[in-house]
Amino acid sequence: MSNLYIVEHSLIKHKLAYIRDKKTTNKDFRELIAEIALLLVYEATRKLPVVKKTIETPITETEVEIIEGRKPVIVPILRAGLGMVEGILKVMPMAKIGHIGIYRDKETFEAVEYYCKMPDYLNERQVFLVDPMLASGVSVKAAVDILKKNGANNIKYLCILSCPEGVKFLSDAHPDVDIYTACLDERLNEKKYIIPGLGDAGDRIFGTI
Ligand code: URA
Repeated sequence: MSNLYIVEHSLIKHKLAYIRDKKTTNKDFRELIAEIALLLVYEATRKLPVVKKTIETPITETEVEIIEGRKPVIVPILRAGLGMVEGILKVMPMAKIGHIGIYRDKETFEAVEYYCKMPDYLNERQVFLVDPMLASGVSVKAAVDILKKNGANNIKYLCILSCPEGVKFLSDAHPDVDIYTACLDERLNEKKYIIPGLGDAGDRIFGTI
């Protein structure tokens, strides 16, 4: 799939080994999610447009390049997406942060929006939607629908783990959204967990197991 980027990096592989391990503590899990998110956004921002600007070094005048346009936005899907924000802010401290809250209706399995707060001028900003697990893809698709309804037209989605079912569902619905993932796992099980996966990312980040 042309919009799927599996970020191949030995550091990412090493960190994935620890977050998959059920013996890893909540504290370590949280820190590792943040670190992998940082490495993913490093790749996802590689080709952000830049503009030239003239500055003075202590020695002379010179031309430099800075990221073009309005500040980018990080949008975590509540609650597990929050675990990726801190790491991304380490390398993109100027970013604004929007929030989307979505839950799955127990009877209809439809995604229901319960919270949305976005910065202004979303249509002029690069949006980084974040949620660690691309499983069925229903919540992420709904989040992209909400972002587009709010004017976003330049969206990249970052996740720690993905699976073929989720990637297909999201890219069929939103082929314009690039997906950056640390690993494409095998499949979903009957309970919609990613296999081999890492369990429930939200529970492991927040210690609610
Ligand atoms: N959400 C999770 O936290 N884990 C999965 O495996 C699937 C969805």
